[in-house]
Amino acid sequence: MRLSFFGLGYVGTVYAIGFSSMGFKVIGYDIDRERVRLLGLGKSPFHEPYLVEALESSIRSGCLEVTSDWRRAISDSAITFITVGTPSKKDGSINLQYVVSASKAIGKALRDKPKRSHVVVVKSTVIPGTTMGIVKATLERESGLRAFDDFGLAMNPEFLKEGSALEDFRQPDRILIGANDRRTMDRLCKVYASFKSPKILTNIPAAELIKYANNAFLAMKVSYINMIANLCQKTPGVDVKAVAEAIGIDKRVGSQFLKAGAGWGGSCWPKDLAALKSYGRSLGVELPLISATMEVNISQPNKVITLVEELIGDINGKRIAILGLAFKPNTDDIREAVSIRIIQELIRKGAKLAVYDPAAMSNMKRFMGEITIDYPDSAKECLRNADCAVIVTEWEEFKKIAPEDFQQLMRNPSLVDGRRIYDPGKYESKLKFRAIGLGT
Ligand code: UDX
Repeated sequence: MRLSFFGLGYVGTVYAIGFSSMGFKVIGYDIDRERVRLLGLGKSPFHEPYLVEALESSIRSGCLEVTSDWRRAISDSAITFITVGTPSKKDGSINLQYVVSASKAIGKALRDKPKRSHVVVVKSTVIPGTTMGIVKATLERESGLRAFDDFGLAMNPEFLKEGSALEDFRQPDRILIGANDRRTMDRLCKVYASFKSPKILTNIPAAELIKYANNAFLAMKVSYINMIANLCQKTPGVDVKAVAEAIGIDKRVGSQFLKAGAGWGGSCWPKDLAALKSYGRSLGVELPLISATMEVNISQPNKVITLVEELIGDINGKRIAILGLAFKPNTDDIREAVSIRIIQELIRKGAKLAVYDPAAMSNMKRFMGEITIDYPDSAKECLRNADCAVIVTEWEEFKKIAPEDFQQLMRNPSLVDGRRIYDPGKYESKLKFRAIGLGT
């Protein structure tokens, strides 16, 4: 069964590489010719553990081909996954322009294919009603065919986490397939037959909604613990880490996604929560927990700044070292990263900044443009002569920085642990130390 992926962003690239490394013949299409060229040479467009190795071997084995020719991607495959981006519009509602243009192209290409030979699967995150609405209508109009009779249509969301995407591809907690007819469901079950994960088979709009409900719940969990962290911080002797551990042990709560910190970001949650809120609004359904989840996250980076001020007083003219720029470790992605908001606020308050990240330096340089920021080559260089250091992303290498390193390198050894990577007992005795969720 040949598969095609329409859109080689994060999800499309990981899925194309994942399936081809299992032996599927895969053809990936993207409108961006430079991206296609690089992928064809075995070069990954983003930093993701183990991806380059898997990409090189898939290209070498001939299982993965990438192309700028969308007609061929469709004609040479039996199942096409739509994996284009679904960004936000200014008002937070979902922008479906890429989903629609993909549907147009796929519909056109379907004209040249025998009836009942092809299945189209929406994998992009889309609000309920999108697949059965605009996607189906566009495919039918452009192809002159009828969905379910002449071609299959399904919705199959993904749950990949950046930094562990290939692992999440191979061993997902579950595989969610939304289809409205037996034949399409069977074909997709065949694609996933060798995966051991439980399969949740449902209808198309339910699959669309489950993806949002899942992401929003996780974001709510993180915002919840961040809210509790703010309470702990003002309660002498209480540490949010101990609180999270104790409540996480309750199986009904679960221990994952209870790490308090400077806030959440990334390419998914911010736009997905905004789209869900807007979807609720369009139906006249209030979603107060979604709004609260977003509000907690908007104010969370300011909590870090407040801790800096508590340690060093007026920020104006002070040199501050930011360790961590990516929205989470093991990625170079800075989309909606908390680091951006912290940097912008510190600059507004007159700080002089040195920033360091093991993977996201060039992305941040490009993003910040002309703004004067130092970009040293190592974490330790970043700390040199600083008045305060702030941990914004919990990279492994930062965990190895000893209290003595901070003491020796910094002008005024003071540290704000925005991701709770250090043992307060070890650091508090050697330098001025504050941390999110740590009551003093
Ligand atoms: C998320 C979903 O997890 C994934 O299922 C979906 O397909 C895409 O969106 P991702 O954006 O890669 O994945 O990151 P994730 O690991 O979920 O973390 C999101 C944000 O929450 C990050 O900024 C992370 O630092 C933060 N986070 C996560 C916390 O602050 N604390 C936690 O305990 C967990």
